[in-house]
Amino acid sequence: MDSIRIVGGAPLRGNVKISGAKNAALPILCSSLLANGEHVFRNVPDLRDIVTTTALLGQLGVEAKLTPSVVTLHTRTTDAREAPYDLVKQMRASVLVLGPLVARYGEARVSLPGGCAIGARPIDQHLKGLEAMGATITLEHGYVHAKVAAGRLRGAEVVLDIPTVTGTENLMCAAALAKGRTTLVNAAREPEVEELGRVLNKMGADVQGAGTDVITIDGVEGLHPVDHAIMADRIEAGTYMVAAAATGGDVLLEGVTLEHLEALTAKLRRAGVAIEREASGVRVSGTPPYRAVDVTTAPHPGFPTDMQAQLMVLMCLTRGQSVITETIFENRFMHVSELNRMGAQIEVHGRSATVHGVPSLEGASVMATDLRASASLVVAGLVAQGTTDVQRVYHLDRGYEHIEQKLAALGANIQRVKSNA
Ligand code: EPZ
Repeated sequence: MDSIRIVGGAPLRGNVKISGAKNAALPILCSSLLANGEHVFRNVPDLRDIVTTTALLGQLGVEAKLTPSVVTLHTRTTDAREAPYDLVKQMRASVLVLGPLVARYGEARVSLPGGCAIGARPIDQHLKGLEAMGATITLEHGYVHAKVAAGRLRGAEVVLDIPTVTGTENLMCAAALAKGRTTLVNAAREPEVEELGRVLNKMGADVQGAGTDVITIDGVEGLHPVDHAIMADRIEAGTYMVAAAATGGDVLLEGVTLEHLEALTAKLRRAGVAIEREASGVRVSGTPPYRAVDVTTAPHPGFPTDMQAQLMVLMCLTRGQSVITETIFENRFMHVSELNRMGAQIEVHGRSATVHGVPSLEGASVMATDLRASASLVVAGLVAQGTTDVQRVYHLDRGYEHIEQKLAALGANIQRVKSNA
C-alpha cells in the first residue's frame, strides 16, 4: 500500500484550484439511472470513489466513459436491479442507487452498506421513506430488497428523524418519478443536496426547496439525460484553508464558494486566520500560534463533521485549549491517537476532545483510518518538524484529487512512496 512522505516546515504559498465535489458527484452520477440516454457530467474529480461508482453503474446497465474531469454515462433500460456486496463494501455511498432503481423499475436489491470506521451508519431513514412511498422492504442475506407491488411509487409526506444527507438524496430521486407529491420534512440542507435538486430539475423533475429543511417533489412521468458541471468541493477547499493557515502560508483558492463554508470560515477567522475574497478566489493566510476556539459539529449550515479532524490540527497550534465536540458520528476521533504520537496533547472524553496547544508537532509514521482523518494527518505532517509517513493513503485517494501534486505546487516537501504490495 502506498504511503505519503512529508518533510514538514514549508509554508504553503501560491494558487490551488479546487476540484469538483465528491459528495455532489456521487448522488448525481447515480441519478443518471433515472433517465435513458447520454448524460455528460463535467468537473468530476479524479477519485477512487468515482471509479467505484461508475463500476457499480456499469453493473446496472449504464455504459460509462471516464476522461480527466468529464464522465459520460449512457443509460438504457435493463433488467439489472442489484448493487452487489463487493462494490458496496468499498463505498457506502453505493446505497445512492437504491432510490433511483426503485423509482425507475419499482424494485432494487442493494447490499446493506454495513458500518465503517467512523460509525454504524444505518440506512433506516432511507428505508422508512421508501416504505412511506409504497415500497415493501425486506432484509435478506445482508441485502435490502425493495419492491413496489403497485409498480410505481406514490408521493408521501416523510418526516425524517435525522437530516440524513444521502437519505435525503435517495428519497429525492425516488420521488422524482413517483405518482403525486412527496414532501421531505427535516431534510438535509447541505449544498450537495441543493446541487442534486438542480440536476434533477435539469432532467425535467419538479423539485422545490432543495437546500432547505422542507423539500417538495412533484413526480413526473419521465426524465431526460442532462449535461452538468459539478460544483466545487467545499470540504477539499476547507482542508486547503486549514493547511494554508497551519503552515503559516498564504494561498489563493480558486473556484471555492465561500457561502458554502460560513461556519468553518467564522471559526477560522475567530482563531486569527485571514480569509479574504478576491476576484479569482479566496485568499487564506496566517501565522501560528492561533487563538483556541471551541467547535461542535452539526448538520449544515452548522460546522461540518467532515472538517472536524482538519480543524483539530490547527487547534494544536494555539496557546490555549479548545474543546471539539463531534455530534454526527459516534467514532470520528481516530486521528487523535495518531496526532498524539506526533506530539499533540489531546484528550477524548466521550463525544468531546480537549486539544491543548503545543509549540510544535514532530514528524512520525502514522496510520490513516478514514478519509478525513487521513487529511488531518497530512496537514499535521506539513507543519511537523521532521519527516512524517502517512500509511494507507488509499483512504486519501477516495476524496482528494491529486493531493500530493497540489501540495507540492504550493511548496510542500511531499511525495508518494509506492509500495511493492
Ligand atoms: C454524508 O454521509 C457524506 N457522504 C459524509 O461524508 C458526511 O460526513 C455526512 O453526510 C454528514 O455530513 C456523502 O455525501 C457521500 P448521514 P451520510 O446519513 O449521508 C445517522 C466524507 O468524508 N443516520 O447524514 O452517510 C448516521 O449514522 C463522508 O466525505 C441514521 O441513523 O451521512 C450518522 O450518525 C464521510 N439513519 C448521521 O445520521 C439513517 O438512515 C448522519 O448521517 C441515516 C443516517
